[in-house]
Amino acid sequence: MTKLWGGRFQKSAEAWVDEFGASIGFDQQLVMEDIEGSKAHVTMLGIQGILPQADVALILDGLQQLQVKAEAGELAFSVANEDIHLNLEKMLIDLIGPVGGKLHTGRSRNDQVATDMHLFLKKRVGEVIGLIENFQKTLLKQAEQHVETIAPGYTHLQRAQPISFAHHLMAYFWMLERDKQRYTESLKRIDISPLGAGAMAGTTFPIDRLKSAELLGFGDVYANSMDAVSDRDFIVEFLANSSLLMAHLSRFAEEIIIWSTDEFKFIELDDAFSTGSSIMPQKKNPDMAELIRGKSGRVYGNLMGLLTVLKGTPLTYNKDMQEDKEGMFDTVHTVLGALKIFEGMVATMTVNTERLHSAVHSDFSNATELADYLAAKGMPFREAHEVTGKLVFTCIQRGIYLLDLPLTDMQQESTLIEADIYDVLAPEAAVRRRNSLGGTGFEQVRVQLEKAQAALA
Ligand code: ARG
Repeated sequence: MTKLWGGRFQKSAEAWVDEFGASIGFDQQLVMEDIEGSKAHVTMLGIQGILPQADVALILDGLQQLQVKAEAGELAFSVANEDIHLNLEKMLIDLIGPVGGKLHTGRSRNDQVATDMHLFLKKRVGEVIGLIENFQKTLLKQAEQHVETIAPGYTHLQRAQPISFAHHLMAYFWMLERDKQRYTESLKRIDISPLGAGAMAGTTFPIDRLKSAELLGFGDVYANSMDAVSDRDFIVEFLANSSLLMAHLSRFAEEIIIWSTDEFKFIELDDAFSTGSSIMPQKKNPDMAELIRGKSGRVYGNLMGLLTVLKGTPLTYNKDMQEDKEGMFDTVHTVLGALKIFEGMVATMTVNTERLHSAVHSDFSNATELADYLAAKGMPFREAHEVTGKLVFTCIQRGIYLLDLPLTDMQQESTLIEADIYDVLAPEAAVRRRNSLGGTGFEQVRVQLEKAQAALA
């Protein structure tokens, strides 16, 4: 089988060598973008009078037929034709005859593949942003239900201070908001057309790069043809943004897993997002959350992979760059899947408000209230901390909590403590009174929910 680029070759590579060099196994995912890019290119060639309109019409018609077949999944790709670009060009020529060979006028696979990647990523980043927003809406809805649900807040995974459960959920809302901003901001650098850069130096044909860019809906064109075919920064950025998103999802997943344990029992996941054990009939495992936590690994790996591929490649195109694809496809697939699953998991989970309530009433997470109380009465905070610590110790020895400690015992450590301390120590009060901007006080949480609504609007 002769290669489309076979003219200067005396013999062909063996099949296993072809196999190693081929990208068709994975770059067939670019089929729609490749056809779209070709349509724009040939249309521009016609407008510029570089190709006769009759040829352009034939080529466009052939491309259209290929597109219909591609949509129906009827294209049979071949490793012998190396990649998506040569496969489609070969099919076009088979379909409409030698005139199909005019499509590649004034173009190289180097600007072609870069164009495909830009088109592909632009679409997918749009989808990612949409799914993030959807997840944020679900988080917001859950949070609205739980403004006054008191829960233990942690540092070091040790009970720290009581919080509104909504406040905890909303922390993830804001992480996702930043993720969304990062993806949105990155679109500026994805939405650029490399088409017309040729192999790397531009072309002798009087092409109109602005025209083809416009036909493809790009907002800008690369100013430098060498940069245009060499740049994979936009993919690195996508992988970096996705890594951070996955880090956020993974942290949240970890909490979901902890909260679902018998030890915590703060939430229960819906059956639809849980799995059973093949041996232990009682089990209900948070597999989806674990899997999302685990999948962060492959996304980080894809980022490291591409950074390493690019490092040390001289300008301009090098075959190394073919290695940009699988990691990107895999990341798109992983991120879209993880966002969809997580949204469903949070939308359907049951929050065990009673359990959260009792958890907060059986710990020392109100100790800061006592220290603040004393500090507000003029005792230096460091001293108040010491006094409170001693009272906590007394309670631990007696097997009780601060709210159970008689006033007289408290007053032995400080006469500043009066009967109103019990109101202050109530976990609800501890939350309500944390009314500093961005704090967990109910009022502040409501302000935050409004801010979140505005961010989504
Ligand atoms: N399959 C190639 C890739 O993905 C397309 C570009 C090939 N260009 C070349 N000069 N060999 O990078």
